[in-house]
Amino acid sequence: FDFAPNLFPLSSTAGGAGYAPLGGAPLSSSTAHHAAGGPGGGSLEKHKTLTFVNGLSLIIGLIIGSGIFSSPSQVSANVGSPGAALIVWVIAGLLAWTGAASYAELGGAIPLNGGPQVYLAKIMGELAGFLFTWVAVLVLKPGSAAIIAIIMGEYLVRAVYGADASEINPWVNKSVALVGLILVTFLNCVSTRVGTKVNDWLMFLKFVALIAVTVTGVVVAITGHAFNGDASTDWKNNDWFADTSTDLSAWAVALYAGLWAYDGWDNTNYVVGEFRNPSRDLPRVIHTAMPLVIISYVLANVAYFLVLPLTTVYASNTIAVMFGAKVFGPVGSLVFALVVSASCFGALNSSTFTSSRLIYVAGKEGYIPSLFGRLGLRSPASHHPTSTTATTLSTRLPLQRSRGRAASLARRLLADPETGLFYTPIAALLLNAVLTAAYVAVGEFATLITFYGVAGYTFYFLTVLGLIVLRVKEPALERPYRTWITTPVIFCCVSIFLLSRAVFAQPLQTVTVVLFVIAGVPVYFWRIRGRDQVVKRERAGGLPGGGDFGAGINERERPW
Ligand code: ARG
Repeated sequence: FDFAPNLFPLSSTAGGAGYAPLGGAPLSSSTAHHAAGGPGGGSLEKHKTLTFVNGLSLIIGLIIGSGIFSSPSQVSANVGSPGAALIVWVIAGLLAWTGAASYAELGGAIPLNGGPQVYLAKIMGELAGFLFTWVAVLVLKPGSAAIIAIIMGEYLVRAVYGADASEINPWVNKSVALVGLILVTFLNCVSTRVGTKVNDWLMFLKFVALIAVTVTGVVVAITGHAFNGDASTDWKNNDWFADTSTDLSAWAVALYAGLWAYDGWDNTNYVVGEFRNPSRDLPRVIHTAMPLVIISYVLANVAYFLVLPLTTVYASNTIAVMFGAKVFGPVGSLVFALVVSASCFGALNSSTFTSSRLIYVAGKEGYIPSLFGRLGLRSPASHHPTSTTATTLSTRLPLQRSRGRAASLARRLLADPETGLFYTPIAALLLNAVLTAAYVAVGEFATLITFYGVAGYTFYFLTVLGLIVLRVKEPALERPYRTWITTPVIFCCVSIFLLSRAVFAQPLQTVTVVLFVIAGVPVYFWRIRGRDQVVKRERAGGLPGGGDFGAGINERERPW
């Protein structure tokens, strides 16, 4: 597996595109172990390229996705009033901020790549780390990709049918979502570079779209006029808190919807190793990015409320289109629809990138069949994958048969592992696509958001609880960044509230999540026993381990 780590150009993905090389990061750490005999040496060094500003654009680019353009309806419909909705947006933002600050401490104290999987394994045992990976592969990654794909589909359909496309069969949206998913998966199968480039181009659109909403809202608020007639005034003279819901479970559901928009705050932890000065810059990035995002989200919501009638705000998954239509007419609705769906496409692309790496590493670890820890179209027995891929492909691709400069370029591309076409974790990408498609097919935006939130916050909660446990268990452990102890305590308390209310608010989703987690336990014993036997055999007889159980790479490199 030594060759594999070099295939993901970590510095370029992490620096440019808003990717979190979830699986990529552990790979680079294992390269360093092999190349330089220890962490921090050799090839990892040259990837330490992220500066404060890079980190900032990375985390903001990850967080701002579909949510702020779609979940406002769910937030306000559940809590019942604009004032309460704004409170939820602030609470959700602060909660994400405390979570991010807690993760920053963990990232400094356990400077290994791999995020929660590694923290949980160290603090609570490998079963916890395994269950995180299990749920991430089966629920979190495909579930979140499905939400983003569905929103992309809804916005694209709005672009074609105009703002008032509410009567359209949901399967039209879903079909568009599935086509987008297939396209993104294909791009990521072709090459790592293609995916990176696509995201580079799309990322700035998110900023543009959000800034456009906020500026427009402020202008409308000041002038009292939209370009397309008067702004809505149906509630402005009334109480901001009229009709506020007193049902705690409804507040919990609203919080999940808000938290979705802030989600992604954990992703810088997967690239800790890429920072030039992580102990200084990671906290600085988080403490700059989170308030910025909170302020811009609250402003965007104020803009929505000022421009749109409450009934529209409550009912629409595509609030940004309604907003564009109200202010600028049909052109506005078209532009907003296209910009937001492009932004979702970018988010779907980076989500696909990171999930495939997570699945890839799980395959390498022996958590899932090792088929998923393979690259490209090569046969598993091959010892010279690069050249094998090049020759295999040369017989398949018509490109390769042509003559002249194009052919030699193609040959060079194929021989270079970083640009090699189809030299990507294809099996992992396909698994991710199939699971995501299943969620797109069975779910819809509102239910998937709670489902994702319950699963996600179960593990956010456990990980941040792990921080507190670690403070007690290993007080002397070096922590380059220490957050106030109130930070993880607040996070844990609010998460507990959220998770406990989910049982009442959305019993079906909660039970499904619990079943998923429990189903992971027998799988853990099956996979890990098998893997450990392989590793033992290998140690005893010097045999190459692996087989269906992978090589268990990280296990052997863990310092505990
Ligand atoms: N906050 C993002 C959005 O509003 C979703 C992030 C999904 N989660 C993730 N880890 N990428 O679309």
